[in-house]
Amino acid sequence: SILELRLFHGFWLPEHWIPGTIAFQRRFSPRRDDVVLASYPKCGTTWLKALAFAVAARGAHPPAAGDHPLRRLNPHDCIPFIDEIFAGGEEAKLHALPSPRLMNTHLPYTLLPDSVVTGGSSCRVVYVCRDPKDMVVSLWHFLRRAEPELSFAETFESVCDGTVAVGPVWDHVLSYWRASVACPDRVLFLKYEDLLLDTGAGVRRLAEFMGMPFSAAEEAAGDVEAVVELCSFDKMKGLEVNKPGGGTAGRYKAMPRDAFFRKGVAGDWANHMTPEMAARLDGVVREKLEGTGLAFA
Ligand code: A3P
Repeated sequence: SILELRLFHGFWLPEHWIPGTIAFQRRFSPRRDDVVLASYPKCGTTWLKALAFAVAARGAHPPAAGDHPLRRLNPHDCIPFIDEIFAGGEEAKLHALPSPRLMNTHLPYTLLPDSVVTGGSSCRVVYVCRDPKDMVVSLWHFLRRAEPELSFAETFESVCDGTVAVGPVWDHVLSYWRASVACPDRVLFLKYEDLLLDTGAGVRRLAEFMGMPFSAAEEAAGDVEAVVELCSFDKMKGLEVNKPGGGTAGRYKAMPRDAFFRKGVAGDWANHMTPEMAARLDGVVREKLEGTGLAFA
């Protein structure tokens, strides 16, 4: 395996995530309008953070404004990883966040606090998933930044046998898929590929789900398109802060900020894996998702 992983309630968690996960489970008290942004790593976390931030902050920061925070900051600097806040004993930061509070996690739905999953609080969860083949490619490029000798084959094998951070990926995706089917008002399930095809539709869905739909006046002013543009791959990758040498971000500020913007497309797997590898991963995923109503094309 790539990191020091420990099997924790059916998922392979990096050892150093566990104390924060447990503290999050025990001590988190949601507000009604909280929004937890959830994802499997490398499936669109950074983009979802940007989109949700732009939607939620648009009263104070109109998306077209030249001084919008997302023109200066990496999305990971705007929205915290929630278990990391608990790991660092920094809960005061959570109390200080403006409503609606936006928080992020890579934990599967089944490891979220009872206070979130039982629904008593009506705290909302937005999940983004991605074709696992493209996730593997993205993951390999990302991990390679820290571990240059890591081979693609090794990364691929870890994903296929589930022994990768918060793996198995199919169980992760299914945990949120099932929750979204059971409670569509509380759990929104998005796909990276759908967001790429029609980002505006995704932004509208996100805003409605968050209880802050775009008004007719905002629609007429082109605010949806402005959010799309503000959060676009090219715009974000081109920011000074996200250029190589722009410092670090992400979980435990462990990665250079530019590592979160690589290619931003669907289908790059074809440049990295043989048809046999693709068929093998597709086969595992198809088998695990069979009968659930969820599929990757
Ligand atoms: P690639 O490596 O395939 O390019 P995460 O944010 O979960 O770490 O996922 C990173 C992936 O999302 C990377 O995919 C990255 O390029 C892509 N990404 C980052 N910002 C994006 C944006 N604004 N629009 C589309 N894709 C984006």
